[in-house]
Amino acid sequence: MATVAAPFMNWQDSWSVGVRAIDSQHQKLVSLINELFDAMKSGRGGAVMADILGSLVSYTKAHFSTEEQLLQLHGYPDLAAHKVQHKKFTDQVSDFQRQFSEGTLTLSIDVMNFLKDWLKNHILGTDKKYTSFLHGRGVQ
Ligand code: FEO
Repeated sequence: MATVAAPFMNWQDSWSVGVRAIDSQHQKLVSLINELFDAMKSGRGGAVMADILGSLVSYTKAHFSTEEQLLQLHGYPDLAAHKVQHKKFTDQVSDFQRQFSEGTLTLSIDVMNFLKDWLKNHILGTDKKYTSFLHGRGVQ
């Protein structure tokens, strides 16, 4: 009987930031990271990988923009520091994308672990800090 491999990254309910639209974007990011991992593991071609990596980069930018606009709208006091983290990650992932397209980067387990760990640590360590602030302003 064939067994189904566990996903590379598992969304946990404890990662919820308590804002439905944001949780759903975080879940989509988890699923794109899993898609990239599956493509890497099964040795898919460079064009397929580049395509998934491109989706991950553009969805990440769209998510950061949504989150920053929401925090800006409600006057979140730690927004500037939060934006610095987003910018660093966006620059890093865009750099992966550039190196991948130039053939100087192979998507390795190290790169995949970096993406997984960054997202998890950012949600748990930074995003979750705005939960009570946004709930205090009626955002769920
Ligand atoms: Fe959900 Fe701050 O990224």
